Amino acid sequence: MFIINNYLNYIIWAYICKPFLFEISMENKLKIAIQKSGRLSEDSLDLLKSCGIKINTGLNKLKTTAENFPLEIFFLRDDDIPKYVADGVADIGIVGENVLLENSNQVKLIKKTGFGKCRLSIAIPRDKTYKTNKSLNGLKIATTYPIILKKYLKANRIKADIHEISGSVEIAPSIGLADAICDLVSSGSTLLSNGLKEVEVVLKSEAVIIQNKSLSKEKEQLIEQLIFRIDSLQGAKNNKYILLNAPNNKLKSICNLLPGMKSPTILPLAKEGWSSIHSVIKEDDFWEIIMKLKNAGAQGILVVPIEKMII
Ligand code: PRP
Ligand code: ZN
Repeated sequence: MFIINNYLNYIIWAYICKPFLFEISMENKLKIAIQKSGRLSEDSLDLLKSCGIKINTGLNKLKTTAENFPLEIFFLRDDDIPKYVADGVADIGIVGENVLLENSNQVKLIKKTGFGKCRLSIAIPRDKTYKTNKSLNGLKIATTYPIILKKYLKANRIKADIHEISGSVEIAPSIGLADAICDLVSSGSTLLSNGLKEVEVVLKSEAVIIQNKSLSKEKEQLIEQLIFRIDSLQGAKNNKYILLNAPNNKLKSICNLLPGMKSPTILPLAKEGWSSIHSVIKEDDFWEIIMKLKNAGAQGILVVPIEKMII
């Protein structure tokens, strides 16, 4: 395992990817489509930037080219991205899984990003009473997700009218266009500011990376590089680097508490009979392990974030 914990981002990526970069010319650029404006725009750009890719974004730009990676970025409506990727206008795209489920299975899902977590929910005006999903019977529900909603209603034996619209779903009840809506909820602020309350979760979603099904070998190679970078960022995010001091007679029991690491690093301290142990622990196990380590005699525990982790 190779752990990087410093800020020389571009230099590090250039070093790690040196063998690939020599083979790939800047001519054959990978085209990625991301959301122009909305919940996923900022996180999508941040993901690319945290991969060490330099991107100049100007106001209202629809297209830009990365400086140090053969990548062209298209800024599009998220709902249109699966179609553009399927048609080969873009090679890959970042969209909500919900958009993918609604639009197309003509593309390949290659990676869940871990951001853009949200739910597709049914909401009704705040002052309306609601008991179970049977309360939806007879209602007119406005949505941009008619296919997913239809499946949900069928599976739950609900007879409601689906009113497909192309945007601004949240205002449909207040202008008398529908009784309820089925739309994405993330922070919940859109529902709140439109006097609506969430009553049913239809599905949970997060941002995913999709790919055109038939790409050239060169493009596949570029995607491999990009995914490699993303994997190392995700690995780093889910893990912490831990350093601690321990008396030598407790080393064995302390090392046994450090899961997932075949061999933690053990270095002698200047103080006789003491050692320093370095290891990596999963973010999820963090608090449980820290307490156990303390009880087993560990002292001076330091936990530091990892910037990138290549396994
Ligand atoms: C979704 C949805 C709401 C908003 C909800 O829009 O249509 O407008 O996010 O988020 P909130 O709960 O944090 O307020 P999306 O980003 O998909 O853009 P779009 O509606 O233009 O497709
Ligand atoms: Zn959308």
